[in-house]
Amino acid sequence: MTNENLDVMQAAQRTLDRLLPRLEADFSSYAKDHPRDWKQFLTRLHKHFPRLFAILLHLYGEQYDFFFHVEELLGLMAGAWSTRSTDLKALDVSREQQPAWFQDHHMVGGVCYVDLFAGNLAGIQRKIPYFKELGLTYLHLMPLFRSPEGENDGGYAISSYREVDPPLGTMDELRVLADELRTEGISLVLDFVFNHTSNEHQWALNARAGDPDYQRYYRMFPDRTMPDAYEAHLREIFPDEHPGAFTYFDDIEQWVWTTFHSNQWDLNYANPEVFNQMANEMLFLANQGVEVLRLDAVAFIWKALGTSCENLPEAHMIIQAFNAIARIASPALLFKSEAIVHPDEVAKYILPDECQLSYNPLLMALLWNSLATRDVQLLQYSMANRFDIPEGCAWVNYVRCHDDIGWTFSDEDAGALGINAFDHRQFLNAFYTGTFEGSFARGLPFQANPKTRDARISGTCASLAGLEKALKEETAAEVEIAIRRILLVHNVILSIGGIPLIYLGDEVGTLNDYTYRHDPAKADDSRWVHRPPAEPLRYAQKEDQEAIPGKIFLGLKRLIHLRKSVANLDCDTPEFVQTGNPHVFGYLHSGGDGEILFLNNFSDQTQVVSKNLMRLCGLAFPLVDLVSEQVFEDETDLTLSPCQYLWLQTSP
Ligand code: GLC
Ligand code: GLC
Repeated sequence: MTNENLDVMQAAQRTLDRLLPRLEADFSSYAKDHPRDWKQFLTRLHKHFPRLFAILLHLYGEQYDFFFHVEELLGLMAGAWSTRSTDLKALDVSREQQPAWFQDHHMVGGVCYVDLFAGNLAGIQRKIPYFKELGLTYLHLMPLFRSPEGENDGGYAISSYREVDPPLGTMDELRVLADELRTEGISLVLDFVFNHTSNEHQWALNARAGDPDYQRYYRMFPDRTMPDAYEAHLREIFPDEHPGAFTYFDDIEQWVWTTFHSNQWDLNYANPEVFNQMANEMLFLANQGVEVLRLDAVAFIWKALGTSCENLPEAHMIIQAFNAIARIASPALLFKSEAIVHPDEVAKYILPDECQLSYNPLLMALLWNSLATRDVQLLQYSMANRFDIPEGCAWVNYVRCHDDIGWTFSDEDAGALGINAFDHRQFLNAFYTGTFEGSFARGLPFQANPKTRDARISGTCASLAGLEKALKEETAAEVEIAIRRILLVHNVILSIGGIPLIYLGDEVGTLNDYTYRHDPAKADDSRWVHRPPAEPLRYAQKEDQEAIPGKIFLGLKRLIHLRKSVANLDCDTPEFVQTGNPHVFGYLHSGGDGEILFLNNFSDQTQVVSKNLMRLCGLAFPLVDLVSEQVFEDETDLTLSPCQYLWLQTSP
């Protein structure tokens, strides 16, 4: 430990010694009634406070009222702990004893909108048998909080973290639902949209009414001087909605920092009051029974003049401070990072002391890349170099989500394979919007920026994989290939290692829904094309072998079942193998079940993999493919049919 660190640790200890007596006095009756719980809190506080203090000191130590805020935070943590339910406190202990619980191969995630999937919270509760049938152990309900009428970014403009949007239900119902899900072995995941509030949040209303204390909750400037200075270094995130990162509000005569939409006001984390208030909202959510918070838009939470204001070191510190707070007052709570940025930056959020979980946007983007190019080399190269993350953490691997697809692969990785990243992104956008000759995809551009020629892609998994085009314009053969593509990409997320996350609707082949264009609150945001309401007809056909929804659903269910039977699939980094065939993506999971080699054919043609590969991977003939149960008796090269995937094991 350096001297400086030592000083900080000593300062942390002195601060705690000084502040504890008052905290103990404030909570004396709780401590008297719940001596064991209080002791537990103090133990965790002693353990994690030094780390928390060091971060806060770095971020806010210069401010005159620093210690006031530290003391306030102690009170907030103790207050939250004192109201945490007995069940959740028991969960805390069990998670501390088994911190690797989420790395188990039984984990399977699903995500949906409450209203679109089931009408309301009561509807979600009625879907529990369905979630179990699919094998889900993790359910992410998209933002379900009170938000402005009309345009609200699909709920990502939040007006109150403590109120469920009235049409969906109430906070009491949410708490009961969280309990029921947990009883059924499903962890509830919600968003923590902590970069911004809506312009109708009480803090924003106060700011708008002219209260200077609340104006400091946001980043506001009376003229263009500062906005111009900042914008010289910023990327435009939603250029369709407003240029730059600021919006002018006449009534307060201020430019407000709005990274996303004008009604999403960026919070000012340079203000320790904001930090404390948001920590308190976080603990409130944890106490409702939320087990994982998806930290929304992590890249943007700290701003500094002269920088891109993305992924700054302080953004990491804020999350680490929240993490320490969770360890003290709601230990079962985990974080999942939503950083859809360069893979080097994505990786930096993934640490046991920061976000234990992270979306894997690189894998997602490269799966689509491989489907378009029928070539797996960039996927193979990038995964071999970037899949490995720290112990105690896991990727959340997904094919589609509610957002657009951004081509966030690394230009350097592409360059190493002789691919020009800029040109290649232009190709991918042309391919997935269906304008590239021979493309099978039917997607839409999202936030196309003529200045940078950048764009992202909207569309459902099925429409992007060719099902929409095949059904409208082609024959049964193309329909079949599209179904195989859908299963193929899901096969990868289910078998690569990490938590697979299914965007509900994809499991029955939901197609693009263009009706959003008639709704003025949605028409400007093409992401709504892949956010349709659940279609009863599709779900009615999910067991029908002959129907498209059934083919996809039953195929997927089989893979999920298989995943749950193979202990090798606990979250470990597989060995990515060169299959010797540029169309076949391969990886090897070793473990209790022996070696299992996974081969994925990304081409629409039959492909051959040399028998030598099996030997190199430690497999011996006869081999068995766990998916089809086919046995390969003779030592010959393996032939994969179009878009086929194999889970190969030495036959017992
Ligand atoms: C995240 C969400 C996205 C939203 C944005 C602003 O990226 O996934 O849907 O628009 O944050 O909250
Ligand atoms: C921004 C965010 C990303 C989000 C996207 C929504 O690019 O960085 O997280 O998915 O906006 O379109």
